[in-house]
Amino acid sequence: MKHNFDEIIDRRVSECKKYEPAYPKDVIPMWIADTDFAVPDEIANAIAERAKHPCYGYPVESFEFEKSAAGWEKKRFGWDVKPEWVKYSNGVLPFFVYAIRAFAYPGDKVLFQSPVYPPFYAITRNNGCHIVTNPLVQDEDGKYQIDFEDLEDKLKDPRVKLFFLCNPHNPVMRSYSLEELTKIGDLCLKHHVLVISDEIHCDLVYKGHKHIPFASISEKFADNSMVLINPSKTFNIAGFRTGAAIIPNEQLRNKIQTMIEDNKNYGRTIFGMLSFITAYNECEYYADEMIEYLEENQQYTVDFIKERIPRIKLADPEATYLLWLDCRDLKLSQPELTKFFFEKAKLGLNDGSTFGSEGIGFMRMNIACPKATLVEALNRLEKAVNELN
Ligand SMILES: Cc1ncc(COP(=O)(O)O)c(C=O)c1O
Repeated sequence: MKHNFDEIIDRRVSECKKYEPAYPKDVIPMWIADTDFAVPDEIANAIAERAKHPCYGYPVESFEFEKSAAGWEKKRFGWDVKPEWVKYSNGVLPFFVYAIRAFAYPGDKVLFQSPVYPPFYAITRNNGCHIVTNPLVQDEDGKYQIDFEDLEDKLKDPRVKLFFLCNPHNPVMRSYSLEELTKIGDLCLKHHVLVISDEIHCDLVYKGHKHIPFASISEKFADNSMVLINPSKTFNIAGFRTGAAIIPNEQLRNKIQTMIEDNKNYGRTIFGMLSFITAYNECEYYADEMIEYLEENQQYTVDFIKERIPRIKLADPEATYLLWLDCRDLKLSQPELTKFFFEKAKLGLNDGSTFGSEGIGFMRMNIACPKATLVEALNRLEKAVNELN
């Protein structure tokens, strides 16, 4: 490999949230969704080079940002995106806020599939809408399936205006199939519900699965959706605060543009632009290598847990570096479970209940770390579970 993903980097000295100063030194942090890998050299070099110039005033809004996002969708997923469809924000989350404000009235409802990334709940609630969930259901292999009957029932409610799709789905590790996405899209069209497709984990899909941008499926879907992307997860550049929405429908796009302007959220950052464009234009090799590395990490984790910690269940991950551990057999309450991981196993994972009530009994483990760190973490977990009772 060109990039060394085995390198152990001391992140405690870098003001990062995962290893914030108060974080106990004997706990391995495996929570927030960034990686412990160095960025590609191309990004580090571009930043260092630009940093040498001593003026950091307002940057020009070059069209390179839009072109690089469109280029990535084409080369990775075969989707023809016109650069004009691309909008900038300082992260993908602001686009959810704009979508609610632009396309729903206070008191309307937003639908999504739980358990899910916690800000889906907070953004909906804090922007005056009610939450409606279409809980995902585990099959006998622990794989989460969509309950389409329930989905349609919920979509029928005329107050449901938006469907927040998370594909790949954080935290349940699903990469939805063409058939599933088509069913979702058809139902949303039938019931006049706009789809906001969060595809921030699109590059992190394992062998045997394929990411399909929602709006690439048909013109009708493209007309009724916006797709959110960000190289931040793949290239470990979340700290630069970038994000892009791809909005093929001109009317929708203009409404979102109004929101961006009303919120004065068009100011771009020099280093954000540079990292975003460099990642998408020059670092395809890194995305390929990282998923290969993660494939090994996830396979190691799946095998280890199956063989050595059978009281914890882990379905076969289809996507993301965030593994969803079913710890219900440990028979601990949620506060006991989080305490057990932190204090006994000395591992800092995300509490599953923060993803919705369906997450009670679960913990989310970030495996985007060098293999040596993962091996140590799993050994600690095995030992702690064996000592449990
Ligand atoms: C599904 C999902 N959407 C959005 C985000 C955050 O996006 P941003 O930092 O671009 O706002 C995350 C981060 O973990 C995520 O997992």
